[in-house]
Amino acid sequence: MEHSNFKAITINNQKRDDDLHLFFDELLAGGSRGDMADVIIEFIARHVFRLEDYIEVAGTYSRTIVSQSGNGFEAMIARWPEKTVTSIHGHPDYAFYYCLIGRIGVEHFVMKDSGLERVSSKIMQSGEYYSVQGKSGTFENAIHRITPLEESLTLHVYSDDPAKGLLYSSTQVPLLF
Ligand SMILES: [Fe+2]
Repeated sequence: MEHSNFKAITINNQKRDDDLHLFFDELLAGGSRGDMADVIIEFIARHVFRLEDYIEVAGTYSRTIVSQSGNGFEAMIARWPEKTVTSIHGHPDYAFYYCLIGRIGVEHFVMKDSGLERVSSKIMQSGEYYSVQGKSGTFENAIHRITPLEESLTLHVYSDDPAKGLLYSSTQVPLLF
């Protein structure tokens, strides 16, 4: 059965007084860097992430904004109830996401003349991540759809506000997960 797309609730939580916020404020203020993913992964390894620290929203997933740098870069943590599937959406040139807790199904797409085509799918478990440096000036990078397969927590870093990106019609491609 096709799921409907769940509309996320975004919570602005840019505290300035703890390790998590200080780390991302400093990192993102520096803009693009070649070792962005490595630096984030090294931080994740020494930071404790707990589901209960992030807001649970009935019936959909929450997006907690951790840092916005003013140069477009943003760090966000998403808490997902099971099966709260996203729309199919693209990203700005830099996109990174990391499965902190739980398990998510990720489908990747490309836009062809004939429409959206699914090119890969995988289940990401806690500790797995995805990082891509794509084309700048477009949100057609890393077009994907996420389906949490259990209650999950993920961390995302983008080089621009993901809300600026296009949403694609999900009915074109039936859900895999
Ligand atoms: Fe995404």
